[in-house]
Amino acid sequence: MTGPREAEARAASRRLLATSERELQRIVLDMHDGPVQDIFAALSQLQVLERALAPDPGSQQRAGQAVKLLERALGEIRNFIGAFRPPGFERRALGDIVEGLAVQHETLTDQGIELDLPPHLGDCALPTKIAVYRILQEALANGHRHSGASHQRLALERRGGSIALTVSDEGKGFDPQRVLASEEDVGVEGGHFGLRGIQDRVEMLGGTFALESAPGRGTSLTVTLPAE
Ligand SMILES: Nc1ncnc2c1ncn2[C@@H]1O[C@H](COP(=O)(O)OP(=O)(O)O)[C@@H](O)[C@H]1O
Ligand SMILES: [Mg+2]
Repeated sequence: MTGPREAEARAASRRLLATSERELQRIVLDMHDGPVQDIFAALSQLQVLERALAPDPGSQQRAGQAVKLLERALGEIRNFIGAFRPPGFERRALGDIVEGLAVQHETLTDQGIELDLPPHLGDCALPTKIAVYRILQEALANGHRHSGASHQRLALERRGGSIALTVSDEGKGFDPQRVLASEEDVGVEGGHFGLRGIQDRVEMLGGTFALESAPGRGTSLTVTLPAE
């Protein structure tokens, strides 16, 4: 079933994916240039004020609390910006971007990544590259937050006209049936829309999604996406 209507819908999905990524990046930049700079400036002023308030311990303590709150807010915004900063999708090839992500994961967490990248993976279309990156980010984050494993395996390969990616761990595993069923109405309860988001990206690009997991037996996620 790939009539002209389906082709049109597919093309629209691809454009939409690239557009939302661009919008996300604009938000990240705006946040960095605007509120982050302002909070940073306010923080510096407040630190000066805190020192000047030494003769009045009560007020100084309050200023100190405000400093801590601003520092925390700044830290959280910076984490968010770090996670969504574009890795240079237009400039860098797929393998390069994936390798960077693996290194970043190892640096920011205590978890190792066993990376399996063929030497001649080649590049792929921009919407696919963005989807691969965002899917890997979520899968690696899940493997870190939920699996308890000391390392994860990340493999990428070309399968015909597709890019196949697998993220697996030998951690505690879970019951995907239960989790995926309860994710049908995400957004209402809030949280837990990582796997749903992966499925949506796969669906929009016309790829495949396979999740294997069982309590005590680890987890393996395999996604294929059309390379072009
Ligand atoms: N690699 C994994 N190992 C163990 N459990 C996992 C793994 N990935 C996902 N899960 C389980 O699936 C649930 C849903 O994941 P997700 O949709 O990404 O939401 P969130 O990460 O916000 O909880 C997680 O809360 C967790 O229970
Ligand atoms: Mg998640």
